[in-house]
Amino acid sequence: MFHRRFLSRSCLFLTACLGLAGAARGAEPFETFLTKHCVSCHGPDKTKGDLRIDKLSRDFKLGGDTHHWAEVMEQVNSGEMPPKKEKRPTQEEIAAFVTSLDARIKEGKAARMRMR
Ligand code: HEC
Repeated sequence: MFHRRFLSRSCLFLTACLGLAGAARGAEPFETFLTKHCVSCHGPDKTKGDLRIDKLSRDFKLGGDTHHWAEVMEQVNSGEMPPKKEKRPTQEEIAAFVTSLDARIKEGKAARMRMR
């Protein structure tokens, strides 16, 4: 009895997790790029350069972390990050990421101008 209840609960939980992970992977190349290339050094395990990319605000309209995102864009654009010894993203991945981040920053800025 106990075992059955335990099993069905953990299965439900697992299904929910897999579903969420799948959705994130399919829908958000932006987050995928960060998870794959950045968060191992700028996340919960290591916080290099005092920067936690996983914790930066994704609300670009509010714009609280815009200066950090601008720095992220600069580092990726210049090829400084991820560091040379790491697995390199492809040129396409870099271009798509930078384009997407640039659009987010600009949209956020435009929204803040409209609110004034
Ligand atoms: C192998 C570990 C590693 C990975 C992966 C990595 N970084 Fe870094 N990052 C560092 C280290 C170490 C520093 C700080 C020392 C330095 O300036 O080189 C740093 C510094 C930075 C800084 C500057 C912080 C500051 O205050 O000067 C930014 C921005 C940054 N990383 C963004 C990124 C982005 C974006 C990615 C993914 C594309 C990334 N990093 C991937 C190790 C890493």
